[in-house]
Amino acid sequence: FADNSCILVIFGGTGDLAHRKLMPALYNLLCQNQLPPNLAIVALGRRDIASDEYNYGVYESIIKFARFDLEETNWSQLRDKIYYKKLNFTDSSDFVELKTFLDKLEQKHGTGGNRIYYLAVAPEFFNVITQRLNDNGMAKNQGSWQRVVIEKPFGRDLPSAQKLNRVITGVFSERNTYRIDHYLGKEMLQNIMVIRFANMLFEPIWNNQFIDNVQITSCETVGVGSRGNYYEQSGALRDMVQNHMLQLLTLTAIEPPASLDTESIRDEKVKVLRSLEQFSPNDAFKNVVRGQYGPGYIDNEPVSGYRQEKNVSPTSGTETFVAFKANIHSFRWANVPFYIRTGKRAPVKSTEIIIQFKPLPRVLYARLFGQLNPNLLVIKIQPKEGVFFQFNAKKPGTESIIVPVQMDFCQNCRLDNNSPEAYERLLFDILRGDSTLFARWDEVEYSWRFVDNIASAWQEQQPEFPNYAAGSTGPAAAQTLLARDGREWLHTG
Ligand code: BG6
Repeated sequence: FADNSCILVIFGGTGDLAHRKLMPALYNLLCQNQLPPNLAIVALGRRDIASDEYNYGVYESIIKFARFDLEETNWSQLRDKIYYKKLNFTDSSDFVELKTFLDKLEQKHGTGGNRIYYLAVAPEFFNVITQRLNDNGMAKNQGSWQRVVIEKPFGRDLPSAQKLNRVITGVFSERNTYRIDHYLGKEMLQNIMVIRFANMLFEPIWNNQFIDNVQITSCETVGVGSRGNYYEQSGALRDMVQNHMLQLLTLTAIEPPASLDTESIRDEKVKVLRSLEQFSPNDAFKNVVRGQYGPGYIDNEPVSGYRQEKNVSPTSGTETFVAFKANIHSFRWANVPFYIRTGKRAPVKSTEIIIQFKPLPRVLYARLFGQLNPNLLVIKIQPKEGVFFQFNAKKPGTESIIVPVQMDFCQNCRLDNNSPEAYERLLFDILRGDSTLFARWDEVEYSWRFVDNIASAWQEQQPEFPNYAAGSTGPAAAQTLLARDGREWLHTG
């Protein structure tokens, strides 16, 4: 870790992300001896609180959210690295003070001028913080590195994302810019490429000769909670599709990269996004379904509709559900539809990728028994992590009956397997300077192009919301989207 020594500066140190994800992830890393020895962590916030009080909050968050039990010696090691400082993001004199403060810490902790600036703040502050860091000479130091980490949303459409990108890359190089998509930190997302490219069983048949369709679902039981203000501006399309859902699609469809280095993988990901069929307004009406939840029940408890949530307009036209059929223009994927859906207030929380294989020709068993059940390969992302495979076999007994049987590998079901949290992996990679699991600018750019076409088509029509009950699987039109093609949404439980 010699040259990974650094100061990690968290803008938004009192926020939810810092408490629920970042600090517990840092603690988990410390427990595994994965933090550089020369590290200082500076949490910045607008509140005037003492470091001790701040640390007490961190202590409580670790008890609640870290996957390793709180152990006093580990905690005291982490605590000795954490400093809280009050800072008003818009006040330039506060940045002058911050600079002096960081310079002193640099000496104390031997961090050699290396810095990570983690912007865990509302997007309207991204610009001003980057500018102030630059103005005060904190973004570039000879002989050391400075990285910036940007939480989503990265813009709200292509023009705003381009504008933001110009500001950021005017100060930090692309190589030092880490755009977070926390799905990329999930264990099973990293596993998609391994499953595909490390198995003779799968890679040769991963194409339109053998695959009938791909279904990618990420649904959750939670509603919009206290995030009404943000969500009204975003909706499921910007909140989930532009980033997480397109990442899942990309990794499923990617061509084998030339090597496993960062840029080779990212180049192939961009190629998929560039091959995605762009929707005209008519295509968007035909191939994309939007929904908004009304009142309903989750786990038999009544819950309110989206329009009744806090900070949500009672006539809101914001979507909480999106389903669409995407086509990828490539020799590998021609004529294989990718059905994608994501929504809030679903009956269960589940993220999975289902590969449905084509039926066999109608000879032998298929001739005798008619349509057999399709082979399915399911990559389970969460809450269960694993791979599920369905194939046909004879039912034991004298009669010839063919039944689907399943092989179900679950990697996080065993008690001794406690998978790392997404943020743990992402922070580890930022600290060691590996940007493979972060979105490169052109990935962001192409995904906004795709999403903007849908958003602008939607502007032309008033949706009829609410159109699904909380606790249901989404609007009826999402079923029709597949029924039209003679298919249905699959779920493997
Ligand atoms: C976030 C979205 O990026 O992802 C949230 O802003 C959503 O609205 C969350 O709930 C889902 O993440 P996960 O890891 O729970 O699937």
